[in-house]
Amino acid sequence: MDQIINLSKRLKKTASYLPPGTRFADIGSDHAYLPSYICLSDTTAKAIVGEVNEGPFQRALETIYYYSLSDRVDVRMGNGLKILRPGEVDAVVTAGMGGSLISAILEDGCGQLTGRERIIAQPNTDEHDVRKWFLSHGYIIADETMIEENGYIYEIIVGDKETKTGTERLTEKQLLFGPRLLEQKPDLFYRKWEQKRKKRCRIIEQMKQAKVPDTAKIARFEEELLWIKEELEYDHP
Ligand SMILES: C[S@@+](CC[C@H](N)C(=O)[O-])C[C@H]1O[C@@H](n2cnc3c(N)ncnc32)[C@H](O)[C@@H]1O
Repeated sequence: MDQIINLSKRLKKTASYLPPGTRFADIGSDHAYLPSYICLSDTTAKAIVGEVNEGPFQRALETIYYYSLSDRVDVRMGNGLKILRPGEVDAVVTAGMGGSLISAILEDGCGQLTGRERIIAQPNTDEHDVRKWFLSHGYIIADETMIEENGYIYEIIVGDKETKTGTERLTEKQLLFGPRLLEQKPDLFYRKWEQKRKKRCRIIEQMKQAKVPDTAKIARFEEELLWIKEELEYDHP
């Protein structure tokens, strides 16, 4: 390691949603590269690193020691948000895990949140689970983006607690694609959903050939496939 951390494109983009001088938590941090990168480039930032597993916890401690950041990065071992006291941070980052695990982490530890924290989630899969969690806990989806790295397309979802603008209501379709991504439709949106369309067609065919086809699941997948086709065809012939 040297003094400049060569942070992945995915984590750099995730980190870009943290305002300067922020106090933030990185939950499920592994090597603590993201908080180290932020604290090395912004001397006013402070971080709490959360890790539930011994190996990653030790790796995080080593990184923080290596970069002499112990006075600004506090490494804590524990499950999800439970390592936090309410009001300790202005933002929470949770990246590189499945959307169902991220939403379970948010659900299990939401008592540790005051509601003022910005939540920056980068789920690798099941992004709709994260959006559902945001909506059911009074957050608006303030921003969303997509990033490609090593042939994989990732989504980043930023949740802020609702202000006076009122409750955001989203349809199942918006939860699947992401409301802000549907508005912006970046090129990666078409790339991701074209891949998903092909995969979804294959899965539906396989499901139909099962001895006892799961008709409810097939119907749901077919409906989603229809939405995918609509969004791919709409204004992008
Ligand atoms: C795949 S790594 C992602 C590391 C980093 N955030 C990234 O995006 O590259 C997921 C990390 O989350 C940790 N983790 C999983 N469940 C957790 C939980 N409930 N609380 C805290 N950490 C957790 C794992 O130990 C692992 O180090």
